Amino acid sequence: MMPPIDPHGLSAMPAPYWFVQFFKALGFTLHMVPMNLWYAGLLLAMVLHLCGSEHGRRFSGRLMTQMPVLVALGINFGIVPLLFVQVAYYKAFYSATILTAWFWLAIVGLLIPAYYGVYAYALGLRNEQAGLASWRKAAGWGAAMLFILIGFLFANGWSLMTNVGAWSRLWENHSVGGATLGTALNVADRTFWPRWLLMFGLALMTTAAWLVVDAAWFARKENETYRQWASSFAWKLHTAGAIWFAAAGSWYVFGAWQAGLRASMSTGWLHVLMIATALAPGLPWILMALGRKQAPRRATALGIALAQLGVLAVNATSRQVVQNLELKAYLDVAAIREEVQVSPLILFLAVFVAGLGVIGWVIAQAVKASATEPGQSGV
Ligand code: HEM
Repeated sequence: MMPPIDPHGLSAMPAPYWFVQFFKALGFTLHMVPMNLWYAGLLLAMVLHLCGSEHGRRFSGRLMTQMPVLVALGINFGIVPLLFVQVAYYKAFYSATILTAWFWLAIVGLLIPAYYGVYAYALGLRNEQAGLASWRKAAGWGAAMLFILIGFLFANGWSLMTNVGAWSRLWENHSVGGATLGTALNVADRTFWPRWLLMFGLALMTTAAWLVVDAAWFARKENETYRQWASSFAWKLHTAGAIWFAAAGSWYVFGAWQAGLRASMSTGWLHVLMIATALAPGLPWILMALGRKQAPRRATALGIALAQLGVLAVNATSRQVVQNLELKAYLDVAAIREEVQVSPLILFLAVFVAGLGVIGWVIAQAVKASATEPGQSGV
């Protein structure tokens, strides 16, 4: 086992502990919204285009037309938690990503063709009235597979960051003359597979919520039957996602967590947090069930969007607590000295708020524009 790091020997944290924890979890929650839509939504869009109903193909076209913007948003939102990982968790983050270096670097190499694939498909939807060329369909399927692979590599990297006990064994198995080869993966970790699958369940539920939000706020030119279909299909999709989430979550908590971690998470407010995380998907599910027989109204869709955002936020919070508990024996981030540097914090906050402002404006323009656009989904 790696000897624990003395937090007092580390350079001081330039931001308060609570600030780092809050913005890391908030940043990851914002990252998860669009990330979930390309993680599960992209694959769903390909399947619906291939063998879905007329309405299914319409949703597939709508989501794929929006996907280039969603990928841009998701990547930028991912930078926020990455920043705070590097500020407070660098001792664990760099050690882990060096062990898995080639796979970690491959994320960039895989993301570029995945992004081009999304663009090729979306542009085909816009320009090819006679239906999509086969190479564009292949590009769409390729992108869907690449994003799932990237998600696999991310889950590997982040789970390895806290699986400190495995580092020396992985180093021994993946090094020559003491130099690491960077070819290690964390697939032998019991928590890895359920953790990876858990995110996919969340992604199915987020895609279901997006289907309702899109139908109520952006698809106003689509016909009524499409929007009624959207409500009922979204409920079925959310139900499938909730079952997947419950199965992967139970495997993760009861089948893969160390006993000590489970004991900590079953005590006091952490126990309340764990139960809230398990039950949170129930709220958007109930709202969808109540509205599944009619076209979604804007207020209901907003309620469903906020409820799903709540699901992602409570998951990001639990994940953050578990990350700190898993790392504590090796690196206790809460014990690192603080020397708060106010000016970079003010700059970060100003840019963060301005960024959210710009995104809010972009969404408002999209809502306005949707009132005038014809039902173009390229199917
Ligand atoms: C290059 C742009 C991206 C950046 C900067 C980024 C950043 C991050 C960060 C910082 C985290 C961990 C957050 C934390 O521990 O608090 C994370 C987690 C994650 N990201 Fe991204 N991400 C990016 C692209 C992607 C892509 C393309 C996918 C594909 C599906 C993806 C899927 C995931 C998943 C599944 C997790 C959770 C892994 C786990 O902990 O199990 N990300 N991302």
